[in-house]
Amino acid sequence: MSIKFDVRAGDPSRAATPLLVVALPADPSWPKALAALDKRYEGALSRAVRRKDFRGAKDESLLLFAPSGGPERVLLVGTGAGDSVKGVTRAATLAGRKANGLGVGRATFWAEELTEEWLEGAIVGLSLGAWEFRELHSPLPKESRKKPLAAVTLFVPSVRAARAALVAGTAVAEGQRLARRLAMLPGNICTPEYLARTAREIGKRHKMPVKVLGRREMQRLKMGSFLAVAQATTQDPKLIVLEYKGGKRGEAPVALVGKGLCFDSGGISIKPAASMELMKFDMSGAAGVLGAMEAIGRLKPRVNVVALVGSTTNMLGGEAMKPGDVVRASNGKSIEIQNTDAEGRLVLADVLCYARRYKPQAVVDAATLTGAVVTALGNTTVGVMGNDQDVVNEVLAAGRRGGEVGWQLPLFEEYKELIKSDVADIRNIGGRGAGSITAALFLAEFAEGMPWVHLDVAGTAYSETDLVVMPKGPTGTPVRTFVEFVRERAH
Ligand code: BES
Ligand code: MN
Ligand code: ZN
Repeated sequence: MSIKFDVRAGDPSRAATPLLVVALPADPSWPKALAALDKRYEGALSRAVRRKDFRGAKDESLLLFAPSGGPERVLLVGTGAGDSVKGVTRAATLAGRKANGLGVGRATFWAEELTEEWLEGAIVGLSLGAWEFRELHSPLPKESRKKPLAAVTLFVPSVRAARAALVAGTAVAEGQRLARRLAMLPGNICTPEYLARTAREIGKRHKMPVKVLGRREMQRLKMGSFLAVAQATTQDPKLIVLEYKGGKRGEAPVALVGKGLCFDSGGISIKPAASMELMKFDMSGAAGVLGAMEAIGRLKPRVNVVALVGSTTNMLGGEAMKPGDVVRASNGKSIEIQNTDAEGRLVLADVLCYARRYKPQAVVDAATLTGAVVTALGNTTVGVMGNDQDVVNEVLAAGRRGGEVGWQLPLFEEYKELIKSDVADIRNIGGRGAGSITAALFLAEFAEGMPWVHLDVAGTAYSETDLVVMPKGPTGTPVRTFVEFVRERAH
């Protein structure tokens, strides 16, 4: 369910709301604009601040109840030191989570001078903070059921000036919510067919043409690399194409590419049983692409975008690809498969070849590609690699704006040695070291001649633990990086 956001001007002290969120910076003094509210609370709010029960620190919150009238509750949340969109977004996320937990159903939000950029951040924060995945649980008995947060009104200095940010914030939030939901859905429900159906729904909502290639069509196009991965699954693999036409006719599109492994068992090079269930998240790149397209459909930037998702499951069976097999991708390059668990790059190879026909101005792919990126950068930084430094810089900047920070790893010539094969043009694994780099260099072989950047989101697409502002599960990364990149390319 999505949250309805609205903006209004005026004094929050008179708002009839079950919950008013007040975001305050570090070491605050009680805002003059909220003097009337403080009065209603018999001075308790300013007292809490003065006596330092509340210091406005990052992730700090304090809930107070009204003695009578006006907002029933006030939740103070800290934006921390330094005036930043990031601070407000994070505070709003915490507020969204608390509001949802309280079961108040609706809330209002106030921060000093909530102008465009901050407003967008606040909406995204509130929406994602309140996000949860309950659809596969049986409903709770009536008496213990809580109202999920369904509507939020934000107080802004000017309603007219806030309109665009209201639309933008909602767009980004809905895109990210969709990505999280898709990623959370298990492999038996979120199949390649399910992703294709989701793409068709997005296409229908926003008038984007959708094309879906199945096994037969891919055979005709000689996508031997992608099809090798799909060899042992009974589910039809899907190459999903979604086109957004916001730019000039004939203008080269931005291509967004996503790895959509609805489950990755590793294949014959099978993964250990412990935590294997997490490999339902191996379609997070695809979820990111579809989430970004939902956001783009709402934002309507003046740019053309083509989304390409390669989706299947990596399974075992008598038909499965084997270590040592040699296959040929649709651009004619031969590949020795030395490890069937390095399947993402095999799928993306043919998807990148297919992207070429759109003559894209830039290609950005996202994939939960390597465990090695977790070793290198942990769970908070996206691995970024590419063949065009300007576009790499653009993607890094987009990630920073969107709060999905990335860090570049080098694609030095020397590493290419590591993916040479005795029997084919290239092999699908490198040596022991530089696993994320050799994976990206493999992809680079199929992105030749296109300005291309690769995001390895294996560490950042989902959280294995419950964090203050991030529940255990999918994070929505890389939706915001994609959206920010596309917005910047618009004119
Ligand atoms: N989907 C995995 C990568 C992954 C690992 C994602 C951990 C999220 C968390 C990918 O298909 C894979 O299995 N990669 C192998 C590559 C290796 C065989 C060269 C890996 O990282 O172990
Ligand atoms: Mn794998
Ligand atoms: Zn995988």
